[in-house]
Amino acid sequence: MQRTPKILIVSPDARLQTEVAAALKGIADTTALLQRAADHRQGIEAIQNWRPTLAVVEMTKDLRALKTFADEAAAAAPETNLAAAFSPELFGPDVSESAILIEAIRAGMQDFLRRPVSRADLEQLLDRLERKAAVCPRSPPGKIVSFISNKGGVGKSTLAVNVGCGLAAQAPERVLLIDASLQLGVCASMLDLKPATTLTDAVRERHRLDETLLRQLATPHASGLHLLAAPRDALEAADVDEEAIARVLTLARRAYDYVFVDTFPLIDSVMMAVLDLSDRAFLITESVVPTLLGTVSLIRVLDNLGFPKERQRVILNRYSSFAGNLRPHDVANRLGRAVDHVVPYQKKLLIASNIGRPYVQGAATWYGIGKAFARIIQEMPAVAAQHEPARNGASIPGDRPLGARKETRV
Ligand SMILES: Nc1ncnc2c1ncn2[C@@H]1O[C@H](COP(=O)(O)OP(=O)(O)OP(=O)(O)O)[C@@H](O)[C@H]1O
Ligand SMILES: [Mg+2]
Repeated sequence: MQRTPKILIVSPDARLQTEVAAALKGIADTTALLQRAADHRQGIEAIQNWRPTLAVVEMTKDLRALKTFADEAAAAAPETNLAAAFSPELFGPDVSESAILIEAIRAGMQDFLRRPVSRADLEQLLDRLERKAAVCPRSPPGKIVSFISNKGGVGKSTLAVNVGCGLAAQAPERVLLIDASLQLGVCASMLDLKPATTLTDAVRERHRLDETLLRQLATPHASGLHLLAAPRDALEAADVDEEAIARVLTLARRAYDYVFVDTFPLIDSVMMAVLDLSDRAFLITESVVPTLLGTVSLIRVLDNLGFPKERQRVILNRYSSFAGNLRPHDVANRLGRAVDHVVPYQKKLLIASNIGRPYVQGAATWYGIGKAFARIIQEMPAVAAQHEPARNGASIPGDRPLGARKETRV
């Protein structure tokens, strides 16, 4: 069977990547993805964001730096295997190879590759990793579910909060809602929470952020939902860029079974990063022509970005069936896309959001809006967690495409 390991080279020496690429060419049934980080700091960032199967780290005499790197890598992505690449001559003729290997083990390396890297050594290493993965399979990553629209006030936050709370009732402490409505997050108020920490704290702590710290930064709600609240103001929001949100999301999906993301009605690079990692994007719309025109253009943007249709679902929110109103099938015709869920108009939602008590709590699930929420909640377990970015590498103008990071297929 074909294997597709992700291999990160951490070395200032570009030749190490060339060696590994050459060695890979001779290994049967293996198509590896290769990336290089020029130093340890970049290496940790790449491990955190890209989660390679294997990181091949250039070993120098600075064992303390190697140990720090290994510790940080283990915290960032415990599943990434670390192998030291060493040139025996660097340590001089008096130092035996076994002494070098022992030092590397002490520094936290799990494997070794002698330079120049040979096909046989690399193949054996990949075989070992494969056997190890078969013995201890990783727990599956959580699912990232985003609520999006390019029009304000259509109900993204209302739906994210209510579906999030409803799902958390079934999976307490396993659902995280990230309020990425950066400029004006309202989820905390809808949940009557006063968060001491926010998404900005997670972003500022990103170099030491792990699953435990992320859980500490989230604020628990009585429903069992955890909230990573929006930045307190525009100044704090400025700290959250595409790379930072990608890192928080990647970590969040390891700490929770479900990560909901409430977003702002603007397709910018942060939003693109959210989309890139979304296993499911709920497109929220209404049966009002200007909103529908916006949704048509949003669907076109998603298609052009290569965001797969099967990860998209359309929710028609605030629906009332009065004479003259567009019906769900009219909406579907205008969108050129099926309407997956219809959430009726319910004026008590407004009251619920004013008093900070999600309507879904205590709502009947067999009729009206409670039934609509229940249907959305029911489909969550079937959402497939993806391992690849959603986008095909396309980008919006001025955006640096995440799906097209420096990565070569070997
Ligand atoms: N199904 C519904 N029935 C009645 N009112 C609703 C419904 N859904 C949302 N609302 C109300 O619409 C208003 C806007 O909702 P919400 O804040 O969730 O929209 P949003 O898309 O998150 O807005 P923004 O783009 O500003 O973040 C709120 O007052 C909310 O109570
Ligand atoms: Mg909102």
